[in-house]
Amino acid sequence: MTGNGTAAAAVRTQGLDVRLGGTHAVREATVSFGEGTTSGLVGPNGAGKSTLLNCVSGLVPVSAGQVFLYGERSTGIKPHRLAAMGIGRSYQGAQLVMELTAAENVMVGDHLAVRTGLLGAGLSLPGARRAERRARERALGALERVGLRQHADRTARELPYGVQKRVDLARALVSEPRCILLDEPMAGLSRSEKEEVVEVLAGLRVEGGPTLVIVEHDMRVINQLCSDVVVLNAGAVLAVGPPDVVLNRPEVVDAYIGRDNEQERP
Ligand SMILES: Nc1ncnc2c1ncn2[C@@H]1O[C@H](COP(=O)(O)OP(=O)(O)OP(=O)(O)O)[C@@H](O)[C@H]1O
Ligand SMILES: [Mg+2]
Repeated sequence: MTGNGTAAAAVRTQGLDVRLGGTHAVREATVSFGEGTTSGLVGPNGAGKSTLLNCVSGLVPVSAGQVFLYGERSTGIKPHRLAAMGIGRSYQGAQLVMELTAAENVMVGDHLAVRTGLLGAGLSLPGARRAERRARERALGALERVGLRQHADRTARELPYGVQKRVDLARALVSEPRCILLDEPMAGLSRSEKEEVVEVLAGLRVEGGPTLVIVEHDMRVINQLCSDVVVLNAGAVLAVGPPDVVLNRPEVVDAYIGRDNEQERP
């Protein structure tokens, strides 16, 4: 269960406050994502969704409050260490390295590969070459899971945006993290690509599977995939609970309608 802390939490924030320049991006946000659950993180543009994920994955410093992973305080821990602790991440803008191939981009997200051998691979050590081969196999497996095996050796620059987004998803999945934070994994995808991604994510919801936190503007997707949803508005938590209940609340509908934007409303 999200929000009320009754189940073991994979991720919990306590009074999280983030200031970016002059913007108070996250305001005293206390949220909790239960281990093994699939939760939505929604809210109008600028609500603080990406910033909250960035704090949990160590990319943005916390101004006040705390983050906990599996009950341990993780505030201030560096992103690579959080990755090694089992936090996976995809990015709103895909953020691939355009000169690298799809497979190489996925290998960049593989903290196991980074730890065991890419440095040594540069020195052509035999053990490192083996590790690199295994890392490539894992990358190909991750690309296969998102339906992109055939694009493995194309550079990111050659790939349409919808395909880049799925490479980013493969990068988040490659090291089989315990907790995966997905920032708008379906933005810019065609309807059929979206359906494929929904299927991939639905396939992760198995006994003993990872915790998923999905930022998404398409409420049909949230309803389809998520047992719980956290609504942020202007940096603060507005509502928490099952999507069919929460997304119909007047204050949530108002938060979306109050913004002059083109995103989908609940
Ligand atoms: N690097 C930054 N410097 C200053 N302000 C920032 C920075 N990044 C984000 N912000 C501001 O922080 C607030 C929260 O932004 P954030 O990107 O977390 O929102 P979001 O909910 O992810 O929005 P969207 O749905 O548009 O992706 C916004 O007002 C945004 O303009
Ligand atoms: Mg965002």
